[in-house]
Amino acid sequence: MAVLVTGGAGYIGSHTVRLLVAQQREVVVLDSLELGTKSRIGSVPFYEGNISDEKLIEKICKKHDIDEVIHFAAYKAVGESMEQPLRYYNNNVAGTINLVRALLANGVERLVFSSSAAVYGNPNSVPVTEEEPMKPESVYAETKAVMERFLASCEAIGLRTVSLRYFNAAGASADSTIGEDWSMSQNLVPLVMKAILGFSGPLNVFGNDYPTPDGTCIRDYIHVEDLADAHIKALDYLATGGKSLACNVGTGKGTSVLEVLDMAEQVSGRKVPHVITHRRPGDPVSVFADPTMVRALLGWKATHDLRDIISSAWNWHSKAEANS
Ligand code: UD1
Repeated sequence: MAVLVTGGAGYIGSHTVRLLVAQQREVVVLDSLELGTKSRIGSVPFYEGNISDEKLIEKICKKHDIDEVIHFAAYKAVGESMEQPLRYYNNNVAGTINLVRALLANGVERLVFSSSAAVYGNPNSVPVTEEEPMKPESVYAETKAVMERFLASCEAIGLRTVSLRYFNAAGASADSTIGEDWSMSQNLVPLVMKAILGFSGPLNVFGNDYPTPDGTCIRDYIHVEDLADAHIKALDYLATGGKSLACNVGTGKGTSVLEVLDMAEQVSGRKVPHVITHRRPGDPVSVFADPTMVRALLGWKATHDLRDIISSAWNWHSKAEANS
């Protein structure tokens, strides 16, 4: 019995793999290494390859007696997805369909899927509950919404799934060995760290004229190690007979861009060089989770606050400065 983690050498995947290993669970990683880094996963059994490679999936399932899967492998850059829809649908959608076909053919009946709060688009109200309709506003988010629907349908053919709608994953491991590489990400926290450490020019703050208390956008930042834990709780929910579901994984607390900068200054003791620029097209004003369902059904709740997130990111990123 083992869990197969696709995309396990990526940012969220590698934190989840480490937690699985720490809990003495058998883990196997499949990653194309197009965006992942093998050194993040230590000595865990590893296969370099694509989720569409049905022969490879069959080989892994047989050799390792796979009975459950966490499926991270996907492209996730919103802007790029608008320019390359074929590539995104091919990898995220067609790839997942091929993966599921191979898993079902090999007797796998449980899968946890990496979805995103991006499926809500610009929600009608916050905190966002799972009742909010899916209204994706990018090709990336469309691929996640399509896959959620597909996976929900697969319950009828023997695959039970949990789609976890991540809010804004951030931070690094407590021992500062793995984190979010700023060369691979356009997300706020790594870019704040890059600006503080002088590896970029000033951070662009995308608009300060939104209808929020300080004029900047509000998001729900969740520590990557808390997010990793949600995947394991989702596996356990399915293993004990839980039905397919889609649920939010967020803290329930909204934080503005300027609050993130302020916390980064408190933690690092340095100024965050920044300039206020125009709004980023497509940015929703405020998105934060109602985490009632994830707490009730998966028994999960965030244990880290914004200070923990920023401190862990700072500790990890500032090693780059020490090493340069
Ligand atoms: C983005 C994606 C979302 C995806 C998520 C995780 C968009 C519209 N959404 O979410 O689909 O699931 O990443 O990969 O791209 N900000 C700045 N300056 C920067 C970068 C960000 O001010 O240089 C602001 C943004 O305007 C936003 C907040 O910081 O208000 C967070 O941005 P980001 O980290 O990119 O996450 P999201 O936009 O919430």
